[in-house]
Amino acid sequence: MTTLGAFANEPVLELRRAAVRSQLAEALDRLDRQLPLSVPVSIGSDARPGDGTDSTDPGDPDRLVARCSSATDTEVRAAVQAAAEGFRAWSQLGAADRAAALIRAAAWLRAKRLELAALEVRECVKPWPEADADVCEAIDFLEYYARCAVELDAGRPLLQVPGERNELRYVPRGVVAVIAPWNFPIAIPCGMTAAALAAGNAVVLKPAEQSPGCGQRLLEALRAGGVPPGALSLLPGDGEVGAALVSDPGVHTIAFTGSMPVGLEIVRAAAEVAPGQKHLKRVVAELGGKNCVIVDADADLDEAVPAIVSSAFAYAGQKCSAAARVLVHDAIADQLIERVAGAVRVLVVAQASELGTEVPPVIESSAQERVSRYADLAARDGRIVARAENVPQRGWFCPPTVAADLPAGSPVLEEEIFGPLLAIERVRSVEHACDVVDGLPFALTGGLFARDPATVRYVRDRTPVGNLYVNRGITGAMVGRQPFGGNRLSGTGTKAGGPDYLLHFVEPRAVTENTMRHGLVV
Ligand SMILES: NC(=O)c1ccc[n+]([C@@H]2O[C@H](COP(=O)([O-])OP(=O)(O)OC[C@H]3O[C@@H](n4cnc5c(N)ncnc54)[C@H](O)[C@@H]3O)[C@@H](O)[C@H]2O)c1
Repeated sequence: MTTLGAFANEPVLELRRAAVRSQLAEALDRLDRQLPLSVPVSIGSDARPGDGTDSTDPGDPDRLVARCSSATDTEVRAAVQAAAEGFRAWSQLGAADRAAALIRAAAWLRAKRLELAALEVRECVKPWPEADADVCEAIDFLEYYARCAVELDAGRPLLQVPGERNELRYVPRGVVAVIAPWNFPIAIPCGMTAAALAAGNAVVLKPAEQSPGCGQRLLEALRAGGVPPGALSLLPGDGEVGAALVSDPGVHTIAFTGSMPVGLEIVRAAAEVAPGQKHLKRVVAELGGKNCVIVDADADLDEAVPAIVSSAFAYAGQKCSAAARVLVHDAIADQLIERVAGAVRVLVVAQASELGTEVPPVIESSAQERVSRYADLAARDGRIVARAENVPQRGWFCPPTVAADLPAGSPVLEEEIFGPLLAIERVRSVEHACDVVDGLPFALTGGLFARDPATVRYVRDRTPVGNLYVNRGITGAMVGRQPFGGNRLSGTGTKAGGPDYLLHFVEPRAVTENTMRHGLVV
């Protein structure tokens, strides 16, 4: 295999170019003519098409995007068994050859990036810039973890003394169950799967029920890259399929990204040791958040306002890293509220396929109901300071909303809403804001707008969050630049896209050999 050069992030498309925009329109047109896609249960080389949890376009719920079979309990067991068998050959292949397969999968995604972005527009209503960025992030994960795996394979240096040779190597754990959400429908399942595979594990992937089409395309990319069928199976279906996978005694590691309640359930279920099971399951969990942005009295509002608005409302607030609360110093609170409100009233709320859309629909009707329940609560207990009224009727749209004056302890302030609803609160000082942040069980992302370096240092040292962003938006972590993941109930503290991530998919093995020879037995 050729030596891998230094990692660099995949450049996003230049959407301001008319030629690029018309290529995207053509890609969407081509995709629409192919719909619905078929997503079979794929176990090793076998594929069973069928009816199950189909996915539809949240912007036009009558449009079927993927016809999708649902894995049965028997198929879950068969997939884990197939992975256990596939693991032997894949783990012995060697890190460089496995890395080469991932790099080829990245090339496959690169070659099909327009049609993949189009699929994200339809299946998950990702606006074009976000859909394109998601495909780029998936490519980044493949390229980055391929390099990490080769590096990790060399082991770590240890202290050596005469007469003894010490070696520390990392070996794959076995079968990894990857359970993914829909909001980064290719990048997140790709990241967890690529890390597990790069380290030499076999994977059973369960995509979210809302995005099976994207899961299928990821499977195709990895298989096209040369990942053998035995090392990667795809089990479409809903949460029950995920639960069956978690409790299967043949699973060694569970890589989960999703909501906090489901993550806690997985941690509980994975702690059970089934009769005959000879290992402890490891859970890698990236969960939800309630992300706060602190705005100090000296903040530059020209910088803070657009960054807060895009962090809260891009992709309709459906990013785990999205801003949910703003904690603003009393001295500038009125000014900030007025400016954020003005910006939110004119947000472009439209279909994901329209270039220029800032806020697309939410993913499904139950999400629309959830967001509107919280918005009603905010109106009852506090004050609605802005709402974008111009919202299309067709599709699961929610009007972007800003609330203020909510009482401490309100569910709007404490629970993850995962939609376009932002709460603004006044604080006496940055210390007060830090106390509020510290009182939360979530600790995923956070932001700070302040000019004084002492304030920046203070917040950096006090914050419990996994990712703190200073004087910028709080979403859009890049592989290799912002290793990403939450603390407390926001996750197991693992950092996706960072140098330590692969360690979750391996076991260290130390071998010490006495090198003093005592004569040769012949
Ligand atoms: N921290 C991060 O990096 C990160 C990234 C993206 C999304 N998220 C979080 O994900 C959530 C949104 O995604 P979602 O709605 O798909 O989350 P979800 O928890 O509802 O579902 C995630 C996955 O878990 C499966 N699942 C559901 N119940 C299960 C069970 N009992 N056992 C095993 N699997 C089960 C689902 O089918 C799906 O594949 C938000 O809370 C968001 O903050 C976190």
